[in-house]
Amino acid sequence: MSTPRRKTVVGNWKMNGLAASSAAFDHIASGAAERESAGVLAARMVVCPPATLLFGFAERAVDTPVEVGAQNCHAAPSGAHTGEIAAEMIKDAGGALVILGHSERRAAGETDAEIREKAEAARRAGLQAIICVGETLEEREAGMAVEIVAGQLAASLPDSADAAWALVAYEPVWAIGTGLTPSAGDVAEIHAAMRAALGARFGAPGDAMALLYGGSVSPANAAELLHVEGVDGALVGGASLVAEKFLQIVDAA
Ligand code: PGA
Repeated sequence: MSTPRRKTVVGNWKMNGLAASSAAFDHIASGAAERESAGVLAARMVVCPPATLLFGFAERAVDTPVEVGAQNCHAAPSGAHTGEIAAEMIKDAGGALVILGHSERRAAGETDAEIREKAEAARRAGLQAIICVGETLEEREAGMAVEIVAGQLAASLPDSADAAWALVAYEPVWAIGTGLTPSAGDVAEIHAAMRAALGARFGAPGDAMALLYGGSVSPANAAELLHVEGVDGALVGGASLVAEKFLQIVDAA
């Protein structure tokens, strides 16, 4: 039933990247620009570097098809929150998106309720939010993957969530950085369950929300994973740090 839409490929650099990484970013941006002018750019492209590189990358991305995003934000617009970054600051630095609720942050204690507040903050600031959900290996082995993902989705998306600003990334925790990936059938099952839950809760805007897959996406498996029924794109960690690999994943879309 899902109509094919333009895929979105997001690179999550995590806590990797120094000023010298601008060269890799420029490689990604020029590769994107070349593909766009040749009419063969297969996906929307986003790079989420560490916060220290966000402003510089946003400037380098001007006049290229690449958008820049952040990996987290605080829920408040400003204030006495030492070490935190507001969604408004990300927007001001040239960011268009923010990843929220990544499993590495959930593992460090971030809750669904906090993620939901941060998503509201992203909306307030005019950012798109990529809200991450996903089960652990124990949860999958216990047959609870669908239930866990549905619960996280219900609790971490605010009622105001809309396809215009909210994207979801299904990232099984056990697939992140391990080289393991779920079968195409397992990805399709989770994506269908998420789509049904979003449609039931939000109606048409829920049907339109982009649902990405993340976890060990590589040039070797991107074509298969990106074309699983119901998958609208990919959230890429390790492979997004190598410009050529990231571009190959985009080409596979
Ligand atoms: P990975 O990370 O591609 O290195 O598995 C994905 C992610 O954590 O977003």
